[in-house]
Amino acid sequence: MKTIIEPFKIKSVEPIYFNTKEERRSILEKAFYNPFLIHANDVLIDLLTDSGTSAMSSNQWAGIMKGDESYAGSPSFFRFEETVQKITGLPLVIPTHQGRAAERILFSTLGGKGKYFVSNTLFDTTRANIEVSGAEGIDLLCEEGKYPTVPAPFKGNMDIDALKNFIADKGAANIPLCIITVTNNSGGGQPVSMQNIKEVKMICVENNIPLFIDACRFAENSYFIKLREEGYANKSVPEIAKELFSYADGCTMSAKKDAFANIGGFLAMRDEQLAQECRNLLIITEGFPTYGGLAGRDLEAIAIGLNEVMEENYLQYRIRSIEYLTNKLIAAGIPVMQPAGGHAVYIDAKEFLSHVPVEQYPGQALVGALYIEGGIRSVEIGSLMFGKYDVNKKLIPAQMELVRLAIPRRVYTQSHIDYVAEVMIEVFNNRHEIKGLQIIEEAPMLRHFTVKLRPIL
Ligand code: F0G
Repeated sequence: MKTIIEPFKIKSVEPIYFNTKEERRSILEKAFYNPFLIHANDVLIDLLTDSGTSAMSSNQWAGIMKGDESYAGSPSFFRFEETVQKITGLPLVIPTHQGRAAERILFSTLGGKGKYFVSNTLFDTTRANIEVSGAEGIDLLCEEGKYPTVPAPFKGNMDIDALKNFIADKGAANIPLCIITVTNNSGGGQPVSMQNIKEVKMICVENNIPLFIDACRFAENSYFIKLREEGYANKSVPEIAKELFSYADGCTMSAKKDAFANIGGFLAMRDEQLAQECRNLLIITEGFPTYGGLAGRDLEAIAIGLNEVMEENYLQYRIRSIEYLTNKLIAAGIPVMQPAGGHAVYIDAKEFLSHVPVEQYPGQALVGALYIEGGIRSVEIGSLMFGKYDVNKKLIPAQMELVRLAIPRRVYTQSHIDYVAEVMIEVFNNRHEIKGLQIIEEAPMLRHFTVKLRPIL
């Protein structure tokens, strides 16, 4: 087979500013070993997130010019609404400024003390919005999802027995919603199978619990279903996506991922009464229901991006480019999440830095080492992001200590990725020199964004 090439030409470019290892050492120290506190111009290859960082297409930029900025009833809204309805089959569409705004509205409507939201794995903002409402978020990930380096086709699946047991234990009346995250971002960008979604749906129906999809990466998940699940090889991605949403009572979406937009999101659902309650909240904090915190031009860019993201040439290139980096790292003996996920490569930092105890945040230590060695910005998804403290202020670690290299959509070329692999291999060869970190300042929630750390010497 020939090389799978980037399915685009480049019309406009942005410079990368180069700096030295010595400069980066001091930049990292000044940023308190937190990649979120580094200025973007000090980064060579930015793999912090795939969110809002996509390169928009010439068609999307043309859409930006067409955007109508009427406060109410903009034609851009109706194009956006129709696109979402067509892709998802969900009739009631509410725009929001990004994914977490959709979450805040949904969970402040449905949440509250004594309630439980069950999921394969909740993303950090989803969990935070649930917890802010007073409710609890429960992750019920399938067993194979818990072992980063052991491959399986659908490691994002929900554990069906655990779901049944949890409902039996807590009572369906206390569970306002079940949420399936596709792909499972915090669990390694791993897909969820259609079979699993169907089984979860059946249990939800039996117990009268609505099922929502966190649809940020619905196209990547649909393409994995096409590649890996029996009976889907000859279906188109839009057909698969439509079936996936057909089992859902609603979805939350961050258009900053699988819609190639730099900002935006939405809520979509079937229940008119719930939609009305959500719209009432929307008006207070986001805006009128035909723009929801977005400009008309953003709605155009999202509508166009939602269709572009389902093109198979794009998805083939997208999934292959993640696999390409994953395979290079595997060949070098580096412990990575297997198989490759949809939007990112995940390094098993617990194994990579086996000499650094989890209380010293090996993932964050590896993030720092990658930045110093090659100016690569990545993010820890482990005990810094998800760790909690027990009553004695002892760390309750996360299930896994991962470092995510999220690949922005349509932004970097193969040589950028080759460079990332070279840097990672260099860091791996010198891993024994990497020291653990300790926290010197932290916020009570979502601490990883603002935390300050120092090395343990
Ligand atoms: N759900 C998932 C699965 C996500 O990955 C994200 C964002 C959100 C919800 C929230 O969306 O950022 O538009 O408010 N993930 C980004 C990331 C931030 O880096 O993975 P948002």
